[in-house]
Amino acid sequence: MRIAMIGTGYVGLVSGACFSDFGHEVVCVDKDARKIELLHQNIMPIYEPGLAELVASNVKARRLSFTTDLAAGIKDADAIFIAVGTPSRRGDGHADLSYVFAAAREIAENLTGSSVIVTKSTVPVGTGDEVERILAEVAPNSGAKVVSNPEFLREGAAIEDFKRPDRVVVGTNDEGAREVMRAIYRPLSLNQNAPVLFTGRRTSELIKYAANAFLAVKITFINEIADLCEAVGADVQEVSRGIGMDNRIGGKFLHAGPGYGGSCFPKDTLALLKTAADHETPQRIVEATVQVNDTRKRAMGRKVIKAMGGDAHGKTVAVLGLTFKPNTDDMRDAPSLSVIAALQDAGATVRAYDPEGVEQAKPMLSGVAFCDSPYVAAQDADALVIVTEWDEFRALDLKRMAATLKTPLLVDLRNIYPPAEAKRAGLTLVGVGKPKHD
Ligand code: UDX
Repeated sequence: MRIAMIGTGYVGLVSGACFSDFGHEVVCVDKDARKIELLHQNIMPIYEPGLAELVASNVKARRLSFTTDLAAGIKDADAIFIAVGTPSRRGDGHADLSYVFAAAREIAENLTGSSVIVTKSTVPVGTGDEVERILAEVAPNSGAKVVSNPEFLREGAAIEDFKRPDRVVVGTNDEGAREVMRAIYRPLSLNQNAPVLFTGRRTSELIKYAANAFLAVKITFINEIADLCEAVGADVQEVSRGIGMDNRIGGKFLHAGPGYGGSCFPKDTLALLKTAADHETPQRIVEATVQVNDTRKRAMGRKVIKAMGGDAHGKTVAVLGLTFKPNTDDMRDAPSLSVIAALQDAGATVRAYDPEGVEQAKPMLSGVAFCDSPYVAAQDADALVIVTEWDEFRALDLKRMAATLKTPLLVDLRNIYPPAEAKRAGLTLVGVGKPKHD
């Protein structure tokens, strides 16, 4: 199959590289000449484990190429994927579809055959209809079909998720388009037995939002249960295990923490609420989830202050982990931003360390001292706070930490340290949803 991928952002680049690794011939197109130039030098515009290697090997095998020339890129393509950004529109929270529609128009203007046009970007229900309308207006006789094929990639595990998905969702009622999509994903059904679920296009578009909203609800639910655990002296990790062993609930996405962040959950839950409002069908559970999560992030800053005795004035806090989760440099809606703001507002000085996120974090955080290691950050601090569970924080030398800190206090917002281990090292541990230990 010959595939064109429009947009070399996170989704486009990972999808393009993985499709080429399946053996398809893939051309990735982006308007940003600098990005394409960097990709030609095998420099990735994002941090994603394994991506540079995957791109390099497929470029070498001549299955993967990059260009700024959309017309050349889509020539003779069996499928053209639209994988451009859909940020939250400033002011109203709706997904901004201007990049999607501009790409659709440019594709329509340059179509040479009867390709399948696939929206991979996360787009609100009905966007496929609009792309189809643009196509009918600009290239009325093209015979091209518009398909929805949402992605479910997690940052940091995107290649694994792409190659071993729980399912692939394809939205179209056109049999010819289904055949093309079946052929594109055949390597998955052959090797991984991953089911390809065919649905109508609007259904497929909604599946993406419903999936992300449900996961956000699940996390937020366990976060509130964590608060209750603290109040009644129960242990949220055991509650998660206990409820998660019920197959109807499932154990994943039940890790209590400082609240969800990232490029997807915050944006997609808001976009779902907008769609719901437009159709006068309120989604009250998702509304509550968004509110609870927003409040929670700042509340985690207050939790740290409480652990320090209720007063942050003149105190120094060492923050470990700034990105919204490990194995990414992504700072979008990261809980660390709210935690740090709450600490600074209360008069604390913040020293921070993150393995990959510092460059992205710098413009978003003023007055923070960025340090080269967890131990440098902890120097003379009144508390050490783990905000993101990077692997390198799982094996800290806790005794050395206890000696480095001014006050041996560890606030572990990801519950990565067992209380006994912290106690042995001489640290007072405060977790999330954990009973108090003396
Ligand atoms: C998410 C979806 O998982 C993915 O399917 C979709 O395509 C894009 O959005 P991503 O944002 O990369 O992926 O990260 P994910 O691993 O889902 O984590 C999202 C946020 O939830 C992070 O802030 C993470 O720390 C938090 N989280 C996740 C929890 O607090 N607890 C959990 O149990 C799981």
